[in-house]
Amino acid sequence: MNIILFGPPGVGKGTQAVLLKDKFKLLHISTGEALRGEVARGTELGKKAKAIMDSGKLVSDDIVAGIVANAMQNVGDRKGVMLDGFPRTVAQAKILDTLCAEKKIRIDHVVSLEAEKELILKRLSGRRFCDKCGKDYNIYFNPPKVEGECDACEGGRLTQRTDDSEATHLNRLNVYEAQTEPVKGYYAGKGLLRTVDGTGTPEEVFSEVCKILG
Ligand code: AP5
Ligand code: MG
Repeated sequence: MNIILFGPPGVGKGTQAVLLKDKFKLLHISTGEALRGEVARGTELGKKAKAIMDSGKLVSDDIVAGIVANAMQNVGDRKGVMLDGFPRTVAQAKILDTLCAEKKIRIDHVVSLEAEKELILKRLSGRRFCDKCGKDYNIYFNPPKVEGECDACEGGRLTQRTDDSEATHLNRLNVYEAQTEPVKGYYAGKGLLRTVDGTGTPEEVFSEVCKILG
C-alpha cells in the first residue's frame, strides 16, 4: 500500500505518520524532515533551503522531487511508501505521477487531515522537541512533566523548530491555501482523496485513518 498524508502545516501529519508507519510497515518519506536533516548537516542543499523554510515559502519542486526519488529507492522489505508533506504543488503531483510510473508504484489513498485554522495555530505554537533525543511534545496537548525539560532523557531541553514562529505560521498557512490546497482537487479528480477530521486526539485521528486504510 502506498499513501500520501496530506494537510496544512501543523494539522498532525508527522504525528500520524509515526503511528501509521509501524502499523502498516510503510517507509515514511517526509520532505520537511529530509530538508531539516540537510540543514543540520550544513550541506549546500541545506544552506539553500534554510532561508526559504524559515520564511515559510516552498523549496523548489526540483529539490524536493530529487529527495523523494532518492528516498523511494529504500523501500526494502517495507510494504509501501507513505509520503508526508509531498506533493505540495500540482506540479509536484505530476512529477510524482512520473516517478510512480517509472517505479511501478500505485498511490492507493491520499489521506487529507483537516482542522480549523485556530486549532492548527495552537498546535504549531505549542510544538516542542527535545534537543537531545528529538522526542516530540506540545505544551498545550502533550506537555512534559517539568516545564522545558525532556521526560525521556537526562539533561534534554525542549526547543522549537526554527520555522515555528508566529509570523512564519501565518505565511505557511497562506502558502498552503494558495499553492497546496489545489492538490486536493487533483487527487479528488483521480478518485483518491479521503478526508479525515483531524481535530480529535492523536489516537482518535489514527483510528479514523485506519478505517480508511483497512
Ligand atoms: P514540513 O516539515 O512538511 O512542515 P509542514 O507541512 O508545515 O507541517 P508540520 O511538520 O509543521 O506539521 P505536521 O502536519 O507534521 O504536524 P505535527 O504532527 O508536527 O515542511 C517544512 C518546510 O519545508 C516547508 O514550510 C517548506 O519550506 C519545506 N518543504 C517541505 N516539503 C516541501 C515540498 N514538498 N515542497 C516544497 N517545500 C517543502 O503536529 C503539530 C503539533 O501538534 C505537534 O506538537 C503535535 O504533537 C501536535 N498534534 C498533532 N496531532 C495532534 C492531535 N490530534 N491532538 C493534539 N495535538 C496534536
Ligand atoms: Mg511534519
